Amino acid sequence: MTDTLEDFIRGLPKAELHLHIEGSLEPEQMFEFGRRNRVDMPFRSVEEVRAAYAFSNLQDFLDIYYQGAEVLRTEQDFHDMAMAYFGRLHADGGVHAEIFFDPQTHTDRGLPFSVAVEGLLSGMKAAEAEFGISSGLIMCFLRHLDEDAALATLKAAEPWLDRMVGVGLDSAEVGHPPSKFQRVFRAARERGLMLCAHAGEEGPPEYVWEALDLLKVDRIDHGNRALEDEALVQRLVASEMTLTVCPLSNLKLRGVQDLKEHPLKRMLDLGLKATCNADDPSYFGGSICENFTQTARALDLSREEIVTLARNSFTGSFLDEERVARHLAAIDAYA
Ligand code: ADE
Ligand code: ZN
Repeated sequence: MTDTLEDFIRGLPKAELHLHIEGSLEPEQMFEFGRRNRVDMPFRSVEEVRAAYAFSNLQDFLDIYYQGAEVLRTEQDFHDMAMAYFGRLHADGGVHAEIFFDPQTHTDRGLPFSVAVEGLLSGMKAAEAEFGISSGLIMCFLRHLDEDAALATLKAAEPWLDRMVGVGLDSAEVGHPPSKFQRVFRAARERGLMLCAHAGEEGPPEYVWEALDLLKVDRIDHGNRALEDEALVQRLVASEMTLTVCPLSNLKLRGVQDLKEHPLKRMLDLGLKATCNADDPSYFGGSICENFTQTARALDLSREEIVTLARNSFTGSFLDEERVARHLAAIDAYA
């Protein structure tokens, strides 16, 4: 029997707005890169890698995630990793993606800044040609490092900034509030870049307030813990702030114990502009479609709610109005 819900979701045009490209690296490709770059790996098999992906919180995951990135050494690696992701997104009915990358993860282990960014831009261009998928690149600052390092990263990125859509803030949230990064976000804003920040994934509602008021972000990544603060919810609803929610990530990192407890439906009921994304699909066990399908089943989402999530992925994107309108028309024609 065909799974009609899954088919409906797969065929629905959608954009992915919360995707760490380093988190799309599948174990098979990790081994392939490890071999071709002669990098010693702490795992002997794909099964061993997958078995290690049992996390009890964000830091647990980050430790293994930064270790996984060690195999990325050349522009070709970044190009191939991006193309593999876009191929899967295409099969999932994705037509646009705004992807995060963490330059400091690579420059701090000695790679020139150009390697990751040139490889990714070339993969993005190839994905447009091969799959017709448009994409934008968002450079994230690692919040466990200090703001001077983020400022130096923005400076190193200068030759490529006109080919990026925005900057973001990721890595270990608790203890590293948005207020720590006010100068670098102001500089990025002055440079015309769009602004995102992970907030309210593990951190308290105050971090979401700070991202809004001090960093002046255009999008909140996750935002789950905003629901603990009624005034904050009102603010997010009134400003139509997009939340890039990642249900399977929240489950894997124990933000929720069961998908049935996931706040995505509650967010929609409250009038929040939520979207549904994979975060780090290789580590959290599911692509954007898996996130849509498993969450829709667990929360008994209606077709209308599923379509709202897809519409939000375009209205919450950094695409221009004309392209957003075209994607919305495609959703209307489909649904
Ligand atoms: N880097 C990659 N995935 C992340 C997440 N879910 N939260 C913070 N930093 C990340
Ligand atoms: Zn994330």
